[in-house]
Amino acid sequence: MDLRIGVMGFGGMGHYHAEHVKVPGVTFVTACDIEAVQLADAEALGVKAYLNDEEGFFNDGSINTVLLTVPNHLHKEYAVKAAAAGKNVICEKPAALLPADFDAMVQAAWERGVLFEVHQNRRWDRDFCIVKKIYDEKRIGEIFNIESNIHMPSGRVQGWHQFKEYGGGMVYDWGVHCIDQALQLIPDKVGTVFADLKNVFHTEVDDYYKIIIKFRGGQTVNLNLCTYVLKPYPRWFVCGDRGTAEILSFAGDGKLYKTSRVLEKLPPRIEPNVAGPTRSYIPVPPGELLEEDLPAVPEAAETAWLEFYRNYRAVLNGKESFKIKNEEVRRVLELMQAVFQSAETGMAVRFDYDD
Ligand SMILES: NC(=O)c1ccc[n+]([C@@H]2O[C@H](COP(=O)([O-])OP(=O)(O)OC[C@H]3O[C@@H](n4cnc5c(N)ncnc54)[C@H](O)[C@@H]3O)[C@@H](O)[C@H]2O)c1
Repeated sequence: MDLRIGVMGFGGMGHYHAEHVKVPGVTFVTACDIEAVQLADAEALGVKAYLNDEEGFFNDGSINTVLLTVPNHLHKEYAVKAAAAGKNVICEKPAALLPADFDAMVQAAWERGVLFEVHQNRRWDRDFCIVKKIYDEKRIGEIFNIESNIHMPSGRVQGWHQFKEYGGGMVYDWGVHCIDQALQLIPDKVGTVFADLKNVFHTEVDDYYKIIIKFRGGQTVNLNLCTYVLKPYPRWFVCGDRGTAEILSFAGDGKLYKTSRVLEKLPPRIEPNVAGPTRSYIPVPPGELLEEDLPAVPEAAETAWLEFYRNYRAVLNGKESFKIKNEEVRRVLELMQAVFQSAETGMAVRFDYDD
């Protein structure tokens, strides 16, 4: 069976899907929006437009799947309506604003026997896949700290993202991707979450975050986002006990840094030395610092993201299971609640404990 998709919300991301997803057996058939201007090019793109006609859109028998690319606060309402109309659902991130809303969406799909998956496409990002490979294959030994940075120069949060009631702010926008990546990277349970959110240039929503996730295995992941940074910062900075990795951008450029000496954990001891008071800064001796290429990953993001649709169609035909599991999405949404709680109280929040 093919995926015949109706797009609910034909803005930036709705257009992205309709224009860029070229996957066998996946067709974009209709689109619905409340703004005529957003549907102006629908015909040219080969999709039937439903302007302000939600009922007509959901009841159109030519689609079997609804893609939700409306602002975040509408995901729950439309996921439930799509399921009630007997359509499979693809929902943009963040799936919902609250875990309880997500539960209602999943339940609605389950009750009608339709499929439901969230588009956490950044699991296929090249930079992330490189870090995952470094972590899984211990390319720089045991990793003890990872920095995941999103820095932008404009200082501006766009459109509805500036408003709380629409589910705006950067935790709901980028945070959901970066938290999802962190939890995919490190399989251990989390121990604590600490977060600082700031309103640098926006009054209602966070436009800066620092989130520190400490895993039970001792690893920390620092997630940093700032909407006003004028000097580019590495996308990832990864510290292991056998080296350091720097991934500069989404393109996946960067290097691994290692030394020919292998350091071991030592008991404390005082040795005579002539290096002076800043002895910890002694550079690695000439010839001992080695640079290596980052591990290769197969594809660029634009094509890798299409794997989501190939998998969705395979699930529709009973051949595979979803790569993005609802329980993983729910854990991310729960962790986001811990982020908000920590930012509010200034305290680290225990996470993944059943008690
Ligand atoms: N996965 C990703 O990489 C990614 C990237 C960008 C955005 N997104 C997500 O996609 C969703 C849409 O974001 P966007 O950037 O495309 O926003 P957008 O503002 O560009 O588009 C939203 C569209 O929804 C329409 N809309 C608003 N209310 C509606 C309603 N009641 N009924 C029908 N249409 C309505 C708007 O007119 C607009 O055309 C968000 O959830 C966002 O988080 C995901």
